[in-house]
Amino acid sequence: MIVARDRDELRRAALPAPLAFVPTMGNLHAGHLALVELARRHAPRVAVSIFVNRLQFAPHEDFEHYPRTLAADCEQLAAAGVDLVFAPDERVLYPEPQRFQVEPPPLADELEGRFRPRFFHGVATVVLKLLNCVQPRFAMFGKKDYQQLTIVRDMVRQFNLPVEIVAGETVRESDGLAMSSRNAYLSPAERREAPRLYQVLLQVCAGRLTPAAAVDALQAAGWKPDYIEVRRRPDLAVPSAVDRARVALGAARLGSTRLIDSVEF
Ligand code: PAF
Repeated sequence: MIVARDRDELRRAALPAPLAFVPTMGNLHAGHLALVELARRHAPRVAVSIFVNRLQFAPHEDFEHYPRTLAADCEQLAAAGVDLVFAPDERVLYPEPQRFQVEPPPLADELEGRFRPRFFHGVATVVLKLLNCVQPRFAMFGKKDYQQLTIVRDMVRQFNLPVEIVAGETVRESDGLAMSSRNAYLSPAERREAPRLYQVLLQVCAGRLTPAAAVDALQAAGWKPDYIEVRRRPDLAVPSAVDRARVALGAARLGSTRLIDSVEF
């Protein structure tokens, strides 16, 4: 497995196309490895990027403390048969202030965007840069971050980028909690409580809870919910009565950890 730390090393790796690509911020778990597996089914060569993107963190968020575990991540990726890891540091991806940024559509100000202003500007900008560096034929994004997947897919279509976005199913712990690097922040008691977010989303999907009642249920259990909403697939518009393909999305804080999840129905 080649580990490229800058664009010269990436160019020298010169992997033959087609390439399937999994962008990550590292601290890998089974959810990332499932995306690697999905990538392998799409192309003979698989590349993974590891980059904690300052541009998508607000000043009060966990950028400085986000777990950076490059050596352990590379061990896992080598064992998974990955061909190339692109792990640039900030000076490689942002050698100067990023004066041009992707301006995402109004959807970026809804759901996650209401609570994380400019988050999707940062995500879209770094994804565009990573796609330009790696030049994959396929790029894998997980459905847990459903709004990210939707916005990236729209960006790729609108900018005619020569890459196909492939959605990966959410990987869950045995009690239903969606895998996330941020789960490591949970105390043992919070970890036991954490599957409730998925449970209320399932109840919303089944019509047993309205989104407002799901917010109340989380609050009653000590959470601070940001939102629970039902949107239409695939564009996350507010659904009308005829829109049958839907997704329930939620984000809530448990102690100091913010968890997000989504369930299609
Ligand atoms: O989902 C993530 O890990 C990040 O948002 C991504 C897509 C790697 C961009 O930094």
